[in-house]
Amino acid sequence: MGNIKKMGVVGSGQMGSGIAQLAAVHGLDVWLLDTDPDALSRATKSISNSIHRLISKGHLTKASNNLSLYSFCCFPAVGAEALRRLRCTSNLEDLSAADVVIEAIVESEDVKKKLFNELDLITKRSAILASNTSSISITRIASATTRPSQVIGMHFMNPPPIMKLVEIVRGADTSDETFNVTKALAERFGKTVICSQDYSGFIVNRILMPMINEAFFALYTGVATKEDIDTGMKLGTNHPMGPLELADFIGLDICLSIMRVLHAGLGDGKYAPCPLLIQYVDAGRVGRKRGIGVYNYA
Ligand code: CAA
Repeated sequence: MGNIKKMGVVGSGQMGSGIAQLAAVHGLDVWLLDTDPDALSRATKSISNSIHRLISKGHLTKASNNLSLYSFCCFPAVGAEALRRLRCTSNLEDLSAADVVIEAIVESEDVKKKLFNELDLITKRSAILASNTSSISITRIASATTRPSQVIGMHFMNPPPIMKLVEIVRGADTSDETFNVTKALAERFGKTVICSQDYSGFIVNRILMPMINEAFFALYTGVATKEDIDTGMKLGTNHPMGPLELADFIGLDICLSIMRVLHAGLGDGKYAPCPLLIQYVDAGRVGRKRGIGVYNYA
């Protein structure tokens, strides 16, 4: 189980493409799967742009070959090598040889369970099946497979190539071996690992999402303007983005679905999503990806 060389990533949105990029840059052969070919071509473009952005800033390291920072003359070769290791597909069978598969699809328990059931059937018995879910129970996702000891949460932060954290979530049956291999993989990607038990929202979203929700309540009840709420948290607490700007960056639909998981899973009224957050999502104002959220990006 420990010798991870091939990785499958399911879902080619912001998170899936960022995870695939990390894996390719760190020497793994990667299959990036999406049912939508347009999404795959958008992902390839964004991965290529991101790699070249990192290269041009001198941030790209190649830990797998024990090379540190590349010199300017090597940059094109590094990017080309990583892109060569990355293949796109819409055929799940292509993931059959993967040592680990990371799922980064829509935040729906039913959809994830169906996928894990299919992955369980087509991947080799030793493969680890990981989910990048931001809040859904790993134990319940694992129940859709015949290998719950090899199912684990591997939660990257957005944008995965930049953010230094991976939150690893152990389901009720996740084995120590699965945990250790997954942790080593995250560290190979240059990430710091934290470990959470399998409770709604885990660590980061358990704390971050109520803060974002509270910022919506502050806006909803007229405490302050959106700009002042964001400036308050940026300059007052040294956050890189204000909570409303961050909600637009993450996606208001994702924030809302996480609040709903917290509310249902922890059963406390304090996690009820703000009506303004619900209204924005209902109106299609889901953030940067749609050009409008709390702010207008048009
Ligand atoms: N690929 C490559 N490089 C990237 C990049 C990407 N996708 N995104 C940003 N960068 C690089 C830029 O090139 C830049 O490099 P330099 O510092 O060398 O100039 C650096 O990152 C900063 O980027 P920008 O100048 O464009 O913008 P910024 O300074 O505002 O930083 C940011 C952007 C890194 C996203 C920063 O605003 C930030 O850290 N925001 C908070 C993000 C955050 O909290 N993420 C977690 C969300 S919660 C989550 O993900 C969990 C969940 O389940 C919802």
